[in-house]
Amino acid sequence: MKKCLFPVAGYGTRFLPATKSMPKEMLPIVNKPLVQYGVEEAIDAGMVDIGMVTGRGKRAIADHFDVSYELEHQIAGSEKEQYLESIRDVMGKASFSFTRQVEMRGLGDAILNGERLIGDEAFGVVLSDDLCLTEPGTDGVMKQMADLYQQFRCSIVAIQEVPDHLIHKFGVIKGEKMKDGLYQVTDMVEKPALEDAPSNLAIIGRYILTPDIFDIIKNTPPGKNGEVQLTDALLTQARKGCVLAYKFKGRRFDCGSVEGFVEATNYVYENIYSA
Ligand code: UTP
Repeated sequence: MKKCLFPVAGYGTRFLPATKSMPKEMLPIVNKPLVQYGVEEAIDAGMVDIGMVTGRGKRAIADHFDVSYELEHQIAGSEKEQYLESIRDVMGKASFSFTRQVEMRGLGDAILNGERLIGDEAFGVVLSDDLCLTEPGTDGVMKQMADLYQQFRCSIVAIQEVPDHLIHKFGVIKGEKMKDGLYQVTDMVEKPALEDAPSNLAIIGRYILTPDIFDIIKNTPPGKNGEVQLTDALLTQARKGCVLAYKFKGRRFDCGSVEGFVEATNYVYENIYSA
């Protein structure tokens, strides 16, 4: 699997005013923007064709993955060049394509906008405001999922257990356990009230999708909050065929919220940046 889609068109309202003119995906965790962590995770999984679904006010993301001639000329030969190593490495390994979501009609709609970049093959999806970190020397979350796809050849959602008071923020699955950490999805609800939640297993921002998802999304009416919900399309896919839910190994930080962002910053500073 070579392609990975990054829906990065959302408004990031939970992070206003910081995100008024700056994409939330460019918020740095210590010295690296969120979206770069996501792209590095995709590259580690072998997904080197990166497709981004952007929107108005998101040009900084495209610029980040491009050469900055003046800056690079200015610091060429100085010790400051080392700070560009990680982004140069990413740019050397991956190629980037961009398309725009004109109206922010939800995650399902954003994914559908990526159809032209993906074509007729299975692909990864990274929501880069969910920062997923694994122990050094172990597989990233996307790599874990790509390996599972090779075995099962169907859509996969990453899940984690969440406490009751947070359940209403997630898509939640009901599933039949296939083995430790792996479920076949039988039901899914987007942002349920606690009493309607079918389990405490919540979907987080990593997916592998088979390309039939595009036609399913086209036939999925707007759901919760009037948005075209990927969860609704995935439920159709689960009922027609198979969708797996995978309890990944690693930690996930909700960097779309201030609390998660601060937690991630402290964690990365202590465990990665200063290590
Ligand atoms: P969120 O639910 O986090 O929405 O979207 P948001 O607008 O980015 O943030 P808040 O809630 O207003 O603070 C989940 C992911 O889906 C993308 C977002 O960019 C984010 O990565 N998305 C969402 C789109 O690309 N388009 C949309 O229409 C909606």
